[in-house]
Amino acid sequence: MGALPARRTARQLRLRGVTEADLDALALLDRETFPEEPYPYFVLRQMYDVYPDHLLVLDDGTELKGYVLVGTAPDKSRSWILGLGITRDERGQGYGRRLMDEALRRLRGIGVAEVLLTVVPTNTAAILLYETLGFTAEQTTRQDYFGPGADRLVMRLRL
Ligand SMILES: CC(C)(COP(=O)(O)OP(=O)(O)OC[C@H]1O[C@@H](n2cnc3c(N)ncnc32)[C@H](O)[C@@H]1OP(=O)(O)O)[C@@H](O)C(=O)NCCC(=O)NCCS
Repeated sequence: MGALPARRTARQLRLRGVTEADLDALALLDRETFPEEPYPYFVLRQMYDVYPDHLLVLDDGTELKGYVLVGTAPDKSRSWILGLGITRDERGQGYGRRLMDEALRRLRGIGVAEVLLTVVPTNTAAILLYETLGFTAEQTTRQDYFGPGADRLVMRLRL
């Protein structure tokens, strides 16, 4: 009898900070998770340049499977979650929550007072995740928040 195949559920993704060498893989990951509106490569590059400490990735040893990107004001009064994505094949296993928990833990650690984010109003999975983390919708949907037709819900968490 041959060796048993590794159980998929036994594999743990490693959560770590991003490196410059990850940028190509990060752009691919972002394009996979947001096929209709990926960040242009140069924007990801500049996010990395400005916020390297708050860009976390999930690594399976070969590929990146998830990321969270956070931007923080210089006076640490507030942070914005600028991106959160898990590859389709890894969704529903707690990885999105793990990335958010770690990002929020780090923000608490540096004394950030509040965290904001935007989400597509029909993105139930993301909204439920954010609500269970304590985020609440600031107000009703903001029409045209990201330009014509790009409505968003703004959610806020006081740390
Ligand atoms: C949103 C996203 C990051 C969630 O990541 P995930 O790893 O699948 O989520 P988790 O397994 O950690 O689940 C965390 C919580 O999210 C909610 N959730 C996740 N998937 C869900 C689904 N299909 N339906 C309803 N709720 C869901 C649940 O509240 C869940 O908590 P529970 O497991 O205790 O019930 C992921 O679906 C994704 O990458 N989507 C595409 C990109 C995106 O929409 N990003 C957010 C932009 S604001």
